[in-house]
Amino acid sequence: MPITSFVEVQPDSHFPIQNLPFGVFKPQPESEPRPAVAIGEFVVDLSVLADAGLFGGPYLRNTDCFHQPNLNKFLGLGRPAWKEARATLQKLLSADESTLRDNASLKQKALLPSSKVQLLLPIAIGDYTDFFASQHHARNCGVMFRGPENPINLNWFHIPIAYHGRASSIVVSGTDVIRPRGQASQSPKSPPYFGPSNKLDFELEMAAVVGPGNELGKPIDISEAADHIFGLVLMNDWSARDIQAWEYVPLGPFLGKSFSTTISPWIVTLDALEPFISHPAEQIPPPFPYLTEKEPKHYDISLQVSIVPSGEQHESVVTRSNFKHLYWTITQQLAHHTVNGCNLRPGDLLGTGTISGPEADSLGCLLELTWNGQKPLSLDGNISRTFLLDGDEVIFTGCCKGDGYIIGFGKCSGKILPSP
Ligand SMILES: *[C@@H]1O[C@H](CO)[C@@H](O)[C@H](O)[C@H]1NC(C)=O
Ligand SMILES: *[C@@H]1O[C@H](CO)[C@@H](O)[C@H](O)[C@H]1NC(C)=O
Repeated sequence: MPITSFVEVQPDSHFPIQNLPFGVFKPQPESEPRPAVAIGEFVVDLSVLADAGLFGGPYLRNTDCFHQPNLNKFLGLGRPAWKEARATLQKLLSADESTLRDNASLKQKALLPSSKVQLLLPIAIGDYTDFFASQHHARNCGVMFRGPENPINLNWFHIPIAYHGRASSIVVSGTDVIRPRGQASQSPKSPPYFGPSNKLDFELEMAAVVGPGNELGKPIDISEAADHIFGLVLMNDWSARDIQAWEYVPLGPFLGKSFSTTISPWIVTLDALEPFISHPAEQIPPPFPYLTEKEPKHYDISLQVSIVPSGEQHESVVTRSNFKHLYWTITQQLAHHTVNGCNLRPGDLLGTGTISGPEADSLGCLLELTWNGQKPLSLDGNISRTFLLDGDEVIFTGCCKGDGYIIGFGKCSGKILPSP
């Protein structure tokens, strides 16, 4: 029998007591933001539980990490504190524990209906890096732009390739995305024009949230990399393909990416994901020792993207993928990021890159699904799309199916508004 909570949780809920993802919310528009976990249709205000003295363990007794406007301080405390918080909360919320269950006034203060609160970005993100860790995605983009003979550059099999993204434009799910304007060109050899992007795309990604960082000059060993990752969120790294195509030579992505990135509000911890570890295939060629893991781990997380077309109510599923389709693991990404001595800090975000699977209906962006606009995608209701139109809403969901429960990520959504 899986453990149960006194809080009623529907069987298809993403947030049973086994999950307890961390986020930040405001109970009222004028209130201070504060940390929370989600359970069923409720958020649990951790500042209220801390005020009631319910975090009595050695790591959390003397900290104000649950009286902060973001989770960074808590993330900096590291895995022993995270495990203590999770164990304390699972106990307090379990069906046979009376402390919270039978204290009506405390319960009323601590448990608030999710529908009545505002969810915020859970972390202050100092730096954001975006990897390119799916081989299927790398191959498809390579075939499209470099030709089928040699689609993947040699370095890709040795280096978890990445670029530095823009942290300031990362927004929480539900925030509208304004269609960017910029320069584009019909071909690399023709002169550019300027205007709203005509090739606005989503990218199905997840991102690792960094916990304790490292000192400048002190790389994180691959065997310790997992202790520097608090958890995962869903991430839509919106892309303007026409702007990107014109600007990316020679220094890589810039304005085609930096206008917006959306993440889901709840960070699902690696501890909650433990039952869903999946072991990736052996990497050939074998990576350098600094990237070699005793036991490489992915997670079996089903991912889905749907689009609610402008003016419609109904959502059409456009792709189904899985986190386990990645080639490079998140721990390899983190170890690689620091191997030159670069310092990570609590709250930094490491995106996986688009997570495409091997099948035609598991591709993680419209660029691949429509082969750069050449094959329009049919949505329900006789609607078709090559790229996103103004008014379209894109919704990502992700979940792991457990034995009698679901560990889910909720949703990561955004709607396109016209260029100004
Ligand atoms: C309920 O919790 C509050 C806050 O911890 C505490 O002051 C109060 O004594 C508790 N009431 C009962 C009946 O246990
Ligand atoms: C589907 O859309 C096309 C193009 O807008 C239109 O010509 C066609 O009649 C539509 N078919 C149906 C069954 O509505």
